[in-house]
Amino acid sequence: MFATGVTVVTACGADGLRVGLTANSFNSVSMDPPLVLWSLARVSNSMPVFEKGAHYAINVLAADQMALAEQFAARGVDRWAGVEYHSGISGAPLLAGAAATFECFNRSRYEEGDHVIFVGEVERCSHREDASPLLYHGGRFYTEHPL
Ligand SMILES: Cc1cc2nc3c(=O)[nH]c(=O)nc-3n(C[C@H](O)[C@H](O)[C@H](O)COP(=O)(O)O)c2cc1C
Repeated sequence: MFATGVTVVTACGADGLRVGLTANSFNSVSMDPPLVLWSLARVSNSMPVFEKGAHYAINVLAADQMALAEQFAARGVDRWAGVEYHSGISGAPLLAGAAATFECFNRSRYEEGDHVIFVGEVERCSHREDASPLLYHGGRFYTEHPL
């Protein structure tokens, strides 16, 4: 019953291989210094890259990017097929058309239950003017509806 936004967290491994996964566990932590968090399932195929790497990018998806949310949550497919991106300051892929992008240096990892919580310091961020957010609630995608 907790509505969230939707992000795709991306990184580039030491071997140059890109990883990315859809994550709605993203949240803000601190303004000074600027810190954010997200959590990753221990069993994720992306874990080896995120636990070794120091940098990642959090791409906040816009309403017109629902297909990307599905693609980056799919198993057994090339998640990067047809995806437009460019490399950020640390090499992490930044998705074209994202509502906002946070390029982070990882500060801490907390192993809790079946997930690992990553706390990142934002090194650079940007946003797309007039993007409507992609929302997730009860297993479905939505966009904003002003009250
Ligand atoms: C809306 C949505 C939110 C998700 N949020 C997370 C998340 O916060 N953390 C996580 O580990 N997986 C999350 N997942 C699952 C991953 O996107 C992905 O399916 C999972 O990582 C399995 O693939 P992998 O083992 O290749 O990483 C989410 C999936 C969806 C559709």
